[in-house]
Amino acid sequence: MERTFIIIKPDAVQRGLTGEIIKRFEQRGLRIIGMKFLRISRPLAEKHYAVHAERPFFASLVNYITSSPVVVIALEGTNAVAAARKTIGATKPQEAEAGTIRGDLALEIGRNLVHGSDSVENGQIEVANFFTEAELTSWPRNNDPWIFE
Ligand code: RTP
Ligand code: MG
Repeated sequence: MERTFIIIKPDAVQRGLTGEIIKRFEQRGLRIIGMKFLRISRPLAEKHYAVHAERPFFASLVNYITSSPVVVIALEGTNAVAAARKTIGATKPQEAEAGTIRGDLALEIGRNLVHGSDSVENGQIEVANFFTEAELTSWPRNNDPWIFE
């Protein structure tokens, strides 16, 4: 089953949107297989966003993601990576469709509430960067047959 990695970013936790955001992924049908609350260290943030290391916004991005606690989630499901990205919406909240997390709840790119892996390969890598195997439980959910055909 495909896996993806989610961060409920500091702004979302500070704004009390943690439950609202988890609810949207649950209602989409994605299955939670790991979740924890932590403050991301600077080295882990730099590793997670290494692809953006040369971009002008890198320093502010690392400051933002390490500024206060986050909730990290590993999800499983059919096309989990693409499904989660659709539920999250476009990177710039002003361009995100209504009905998406960013389109409904955010206004600015540097306060866009949530991260989702952008490829199946990165989903695997990011889940492994934030969770040990012992922290992941791939469980048979009662309603799986009503969500996964
Ligand atoms: P994410 O990785 O956080 O899920 O977001 P994304 O794929 O939609 O966007 P990405 O291009 O990977 O950018 C990562 C995060 O960097 C911040 N950003 N700021 N000021 C800027 O021009 C700018 N561009 C990107 C955003 O917080 C974005 O989510
Ligand atoms: Mg990204």
